[in-house]
Amino acid sequence: MTFQLVGNGPKIYEEVMVPLWFGRWAESLVELAALQTSERVLDVACGTGVTTRMAKVNVGPNGRVAGLDINAPMLAAAKELADGLDIDWIESDVCDCGLPSETYDVILSQHGYHYFPDKTRALKEFLRLLVPGGRLAFSIWDGHSPYTNALCAAVEHHISPEIAKKQRSQRQTPSLDDLRDQVSAHGFANVVVHRQELMIDVPLAPEFVPLHLGSMPIAGAFAGLAEAAQKALIDEVAEALSGYVQGDRLVYPDAVHVAVGFK
Ligand SMILES: C[S@@+](CC[C@H](N)C(=O)[O-])C[C@H]1O[C@@H](n2cnc3c(N)ncnc32)[C@H](O)[C@@H]1O
Repeated sequence: MTFQLVGNGPKIYEEVMVPLWFGRWAESLVELAALQTSERVLDVACGTGVTTRMAKVNVGPNGRVAGLDINAPMLAAAKELADGLDIDWIESDVCDCGLPSETYDVILSQHGYHYFPDKTRALKEFLRLLVPGGRLAFSIWDGHSPYTNALCAAVEHHISPEIAKKQRSQRQTPSLDDLRDQVSAHGFANVVVHRQELMIDVPLAPEFVPLHLGSMPIAGAFAGLAEAAQKALIDEVAEALSGYVQGDRLVYPDAVHVAVGFK
């Protein structure tokens, strides 16, 4: 599974998905990480930097914050958005970052872990980069939401089973117990996995589906459909989610797991 955006993907991601989804989850992740002033923080798979910017505000002027991501266009957007905030930006694969050992008090990562090609290497890197007593807090989806289930079914019917498989894989994440065991098995102590649930509030399917898919790695497959097929896909999502309509919004539950562990 990958998450690589091209073209105007990072722009749509920041302008649409960050306010509706990722900014809200970032707030709860940063709160759980309980950042202290002057701490040194690394945000891994920082994307356009929503968590990174919040971390910088929390640690204050004497804290050091870096955002690391493998995708140059995401980092370029992150740098531009953080204008005026003193943040370091690192373009690298998490598994091979070459940063000095024992540099950070806290490592954060929001919706990155399930994309790392080698989770063992990533967790070993986290342990190496943290100071003794340092903490790791990262979040991943707790599987699918009503919206992503409806979307993937419609993608399967109107694009193809292969593209639907790619889209479904964005939410194929370990269970709470598996996640706790994976993090503990790699040397982290006192590991707790928290489940956080939010009611997500987005525009109705005709507005939201094209925007959401425009910020996904499968954007090209949706954009390449004929107008009638795009409409049929959107109509199927709208029909499946009719029970979640509140006025001119879709309001549905979604959840993440946040793993917290100590070196
Ligand atoms: C869904 S986005 C999450 C971005 C950001 N953390 C947020 O919450 O908005 C996933 C990010 O993981 C990054 N990523 C995927 N594999 C990576 C790897 N091996 N090393 C570093 N970053 C990676 C992608 O480039 C992308 O920016």
